Amino acid sequence: MKISVIGLGYVGLVTAAVLSDQGHNINGVDVDENKIRMLEEGRMPIYEPGLDNLIEKNRDHISFNTDYSNVGESDLVFVCVPTPDGENGIDLKYVMAACSSIRDCNQQATVVIKSTVTPGTAAKVRSATGLTVVSNPEFLREGYAIEDSVNASRIVVGSHDQGKARLVADLWSFTKAPEVVTNNENAELIKYASNAFLAVKISFINEMANLCETIPGADVNIVAEGMGFDDRIGNRFLKAGIGFGGSCFPKDTRAIVADATSRGVDLSIIKKAISVNDTRITHVLDRVGKRIGGFNNKKIAVLGASFKENTDDLRFSKSWELIEELKKSQAEITVYDPVVRNLEGVRVANTIEEAVSDSDVVMVATEWEMFREADLSKARYLIDLRGILDNGVADLKVGVYDQSA
Ligand code: UDX
Ligand code: UDX
Repeated sequence: MKISVIGLGYVGLVTAAVLSDQGHNINGVDVDENKIRMLEEGRMPIYEPGLDNLIEKNRDHISFNTDYSNVGESDLVFVCVPTPDGENGIDLKYVMAACSSIRDCNQQATVVIKSTVTPGTAAKVRSATGLTVVSNPEFLREGYAIEDSVNASRIVVGSHDQGKARLVADLWSFTKAPEVVTNNENAELIKYASNAFLAVKISFINEMANLCETIPGADVNIVAEGMGFDDRIGNRFLKAGIGFGGSCFPKDTRAIVADATSRGVDLSIIKKAISVNDTRITHVLDRVGKRIGGFNNKKIAVLGASFKENTDDLRFSKSWELIEELKKSQAEITVYDPVVRNLEGVRVANTIEEAVSDSDVVMVATEWEMFREADLSKARYLIDLRGILDNGVADLKVGVYDQSA
């Protein structure tokens, strides 16, 4: 098929790469000229494992453009533009603008909305443009986006036009994932309900961590391990830490709460998950500070700046929020991140060794695998904010290991 992808961010670029690998002809469009130039030169604008190789392999049937000139010939047009926070919920201006540009190229186009949009958006696009609109939400974790596309947990497709819904479902049939083919509204809601549920799960275990940190002998990692063996609960997304960040969970939880409020519904559980997430860092820093005698005049190495492992994405990063909080003290902060080097207002180390060699305190703030294997034994205090280190000490609070003992 001839497929256009509008918006080449994490979602759009991965969608373009994976569909090109299935043999489709891809026309990628983005307003960002710099991004298009980089892609044409074979350079990746984002860090996503495997993406460069996949695009290189299929380069002869992917083109990159800043305008919509080739969109008119496409069988399907994927919309992957941002849906940022707006005044009362998400701001749909990019989605609406992209769809009206698509309509201007081809009044018969089939738009496939991958951007996360609140229920009723597909219907709004349809009534504004007259186009056929298919909702096909993504469930890709950054850092694992190609794997999550190819080995998808499920394919969700919704439309008022069941023929077009079927066409889009068939496009993804190579994944062999279970399909839910439904209407636009259910498809839109499945995405929000899924992300909100995962966010609630993380906040639940972080609230348990708040409790464990006050009980002598209790360790939330062991509590979570014990819970996770029950397959009604499951061990995934049950890792306590400093909270969920990134471009999806924070935005999507706020968006669905705002949407529900506008409909007169109070999503109190999701609201609580947001507030637990908002206060978790203060809670953790308060306890760690008490444990190590405050942060003033300490040399602190923070490992990891991005919102999670395997990505360079700093959007709504909890590690970065933590660094901003620490900067309010008189601490001397050095940050090491395996892929992010350009950080303002802090000393940036080029290696883990450089970051930790001269530090009193080492804080593991992101769950990168390499931090598990690094030699972090020199600092007096080792603080495991993501519960990833296993040094056999179970009863120390908030993962604070006093290595002077
Ligand atoms: C985006 C949305 O934020 C998210 O809600 C949705 O689920 C999927 O798409 P992401 O891929 O992470 O997620 O966004 P981002 O990395 O910001 O990329 C969006 C791209 O769209 C950028 O490259 C931007 O330049 C481009 N864009 C934006 C357009 O091409 N046209 C526009 O009008 C606006
Ligand atoms: C998420 C969804 O998982 C994915 O399906 C898609 O809808 C886009 O949004 P992403 O934001 O890329 O993916 O990363 P994810 O792996 O979900 O992590 C989100 C945040 O939760 C990160 O800050 C991570 O550190 C945190 N997290 C995750 C925890 O604190 N504990 C966990 O157990 C899992």
